[in-house]
Amino acid sequence: MTFEKKIYRSEAVNCVLCGNARCESSCPAGIPAKALRGIWFDNSRCTAAKLPQENPCIGCTAPCEKACVRPGKVPIKELISRLYDEVRPSTEIAAPADNNRLRAELCGIPLENPFLLSSSVVASTYDMCARAFEAGWAGAAFKTICAFDIHEASPRFSAIKGSSGEIIGFKNIEQLSDHSVAENMEIFRRLKQNYPSKFILASIMGRNEAEWEELSGMCEENGADAVELNFSCPNMAEDGLGSDIGQIPELVEQLTRAAKRGCNIPVLAKLTPNVASVIPAGEAAMRGGADGIAAINTIKSITGVNPHTLVAAPSVHGQSALGGYSGNAVKPIALRFIAELARDKNLSGMHISGMGGIETWQDALEFILLGSGSVQITTAVMQYGYRIIDDLTSGLNYYLAEKGYDSVKDIVGLAADSVSDTTDVLERDTVLFPKFDHSKCIGCGRCAISCSDGGHSAIRQGDDGKPVLNGSKCVGCHLCVLVCPERAIGTLNKRIDRSKKKS
Ligand SMILES: Cc1cc2nc3c(=O)[nH]c(=O)nc-3n(C[C@H](O)[C@H](O)[C@H](O)COP(=O)(O)O)c2cc1C
Repeated sequence: MTFEKKIYRSEAVNCVLCGNARCESSCPAGIPAKALRGIWFDNSRCTAAKLPQENPCIGCTAPCEKACVRPGKVPIKELISRLYDEVRPSTEIAAPADNNRLRAELCGIPLENPFLLSSSVVASTYDMCARAFEAGWAGAAFKTICAFDIHEASPRFSAIKGSSGEIIGFKNIEQLSDHSVAENMEIFRRLKQNYPSKFILASIMGRNEAEWEELSGMCEENGADAVELNFSCPNMAEDGLGSDIGQIPELVEQLTRAAKRGCNIPVLAKLTPNVASVIPAGEAAMRGGADGIAAINTIKSITGVNPHTLVAAPSVHGQSALGGYSGNAVKPIALRFIAELARDKNLSGMHISGMGGIETWQDALEFILLGSGSVQITTAVMQYGYRIIDDLTSGLNYYLAEKGYDSVKDIVGLAADSVSDTTDVLERDTVLFPKFDHSKCIGCGRCAISCSDGGHSAIRQGDDGKPVLNGSKCVGCHLCVLVCPERAIGTLNKRIDRSKKKS
């Protein structure tokens, strides 16, 4: 296999991913926006494989760059040419002609791909779900339905942003659907009638056993394929709802049983990450008859405090509240919960629908490799729109084809056993040294500073500014690899016996 080449988001960072992108309409070959999105969503390899045979940028005056809403700030021509010159030669295969490999299933019901909208505002009306289905989403977990009144606060969101302005972590204090149960049932009927092959996962929340039972039955009667029990919203105004339930396994079991009494379709319990371990609630859901588990809902959080008003965000008339954190920042926490659920022997056979921070096909792949049979997404859709499905599906399809897998189902859980609950199982007798690529190194010295002040003082800057490693001091921690802004530090491909390290 050739060395995998890709172009990173940071290299297209000035692109704002416009709607109706002028770069694309000004390009005779109609390439730029798709290419830039491919780079942004970590899909540069499949994007490169899909480009027309000849590079249309050669000899072109780049009208795309002039038409750009940030004229001259995005090196569109250069990036497309790099897709041709650097990335494409490292691709192993042509882009697959069909999406058959992406077929998945949720509790035995077919999905055209593993990607669903997760329950939230992104799946809260007929029109929104219909547009998402047309765009290529396999289904939607509809915004949680309840039989009580919902009055939302304004504003209701706050965010932690990255250096290019993109949302990394997102806090919401939103509650449930503000449509009546009858209105939502009407939406289910129309969706099922017009999109029979799309998966409708009806998210519900009751106040007592009777409501859980009644709501699950109504969802089935009106066309839902499965029901998701919201035991996990952290933003409820009254006690005893949402994540208050998910924290008490006895309640999870009792209310899952109630919802199962009301319907004959599969039931998934959506669990909260606001617990020390998700296993007691997962096993309780199973005892109550759940067919699957959805995780994670949002994590209780405070995103920041305004230093002038002295109020946390978002401020609602000078007052804030703890709220649910989501988006790419929560992915490591979500992956941990997925791996724990997948590794629990008592839960084997339960479908896991994973979510929390998925933005790219590679994020989704990680959830699948750790045990998710389907994946759900909200925050990335709120930020970038339903169109992200193009790069999610094409990127995952390309990966599967390149690796020779026939189906998503073949890879579910393949990495689950690679992670153990404790670190005592790890081999500690050998060291993996860093390897410096001096042709890429710009001599900034960041590796030396970090190693000196946060590592083991094993790196010094040579006369040319480039790193010189003292092998006897290096412990192979890889801090230097992680801090290098030029990705100029890799690793040796051989582990060295600690006892044989040069002294
Ligand atoms: C604005 C907003 C509203 C949400 N509303 C619901 C909801 O009604 N029911 C529910 O089960 N989860 C709700 N969620 C949680 C999401 O479905 C999902 O579990 C969580 O956001 C993690 O995924 P993400 O990082 O892709 O957003 C909401 C999330 C957000 C950001």
